[in-house]
Amino acid sequence: MTWPDCSGAEPRLEPRTTGDGSFSLWSEAFDQSFHSARGAIQEARSTFLAPADLERRPQGTEVKVLELCVGTGTNTAELLDHCRRHHLNLRWWGLESDQRPLRLALAEPGFCSQCSPEALAALRSLNDVGFCGAGAMVWGDARSSLQSLLPQLSRQCDLVIHDAFSPSVCPELWSMEFLELVARCLNPHGRIVTYCSAAAVRQTWRLLGLQQAGLPPPAGSGAHQWSGGTVASWNPLPLAVPLRPFTAMEEDHLLTRAAEPYRDPTLAGSAETIRASRAQKQAQGRGSSTSAWRRRWQGEAGLTDPGRFRPS
Ligand SMILES: C[S@@+](CC[C@H](N)C(=O)[O-])C[C@H]1O[C@@H](n2cnc3c(N)ncnc32)[C@H](O)[C@@H]1O
Repeated sequence: MTWPDCSGAEPRLEPRTTGDGSFSLWSEAFDQSFHSARGAIQEARSTFLAPADLERRPQGTEVKVLELCVGTGTNTAELLDHCRRHHLNLRWWGLESDQRPLRLALAEPGFCSQCSPEALAALRSLNDVGFCGAGAMVWGDARSSLQSLLPQLSRQCDLVIHDAFSPSVCPELWSMEFLELVARCLNPHGRIVTYCSAAAVRQTWRLLGLQQAGLPPPAGSGAHQWSGGTVASWNPLPLAVPLRPFTAMEEDHLLTRAAEPYRDPTLAGSAETIRASRAQKQAQGRGSSTSAWRRRWQGEAGLTDPGRFRPS
């Protein structure tokens, strides 16, 4: 096939096929894959949709969903199908800075064939005109987009899907200031769901006053991963499968320097500035070292990466 032009000054996006055969991309700018190597569709279902538990609502209910980092639209397509299957009336807002991932996905026959006809039509409409029956795309930096949307979304959302690249490479979407904006979109029983288990993110949500649960490592990840993600809400979460309380190891992680939050007071700082100010705080802080934490818990579970395990 002929790929749309992604050459020139823009950093490359390269196609990848994930473990379940579904389409993904690798980003040169972030040096990260868009999805788990195990499978993009599998991740959408097990990491985002299962913990969201939208289907607990009666048929015909309206569910409001904010999706951060739409990328290829894989999570969007799965969400659209899920809501249709469960007769839920989806109202959706999708935030994304780069139009290329969705364009590239829609140009790929493999991606189109993994989508239902209804989801594909919706994604094409989002790509072409920026909206579909369920909602609208807001193109641009999610930090400014969310500030503009806040009057409309404040205390409204049943679900926020947070699928930014890892905090270490995209700290601007995991800062305390940005996560507070995200949390303000939740209705009292709404949930933020993410693949991310980073101590900095969990500690930030704790400081903001959110309740949290962990997700188990995905089946088959063996010793490579100790957590499958995090769910946060203003109210206590029912600890039913797949949600579980943080383990002693996870709680101990929050006492280390890795739990130092990312700060972005202007909501416009560069990744370098945000990382540098956090490193300075870590150097001054009193938390225990993360390597000591790793040594303490070695053998308990794989400790390869406290964030996303997404080899490219
Ligand atoms: C891990 S990928 C998202 C994968 C996506 N959910 C999917 O199913 O393909 C992260 C996405 O974040 C986007 N992104 C990076 N920085 C952003 C920002 N400041 N605001 C909005 N989107 C951003 C990237 O363009 C990329 O598409």
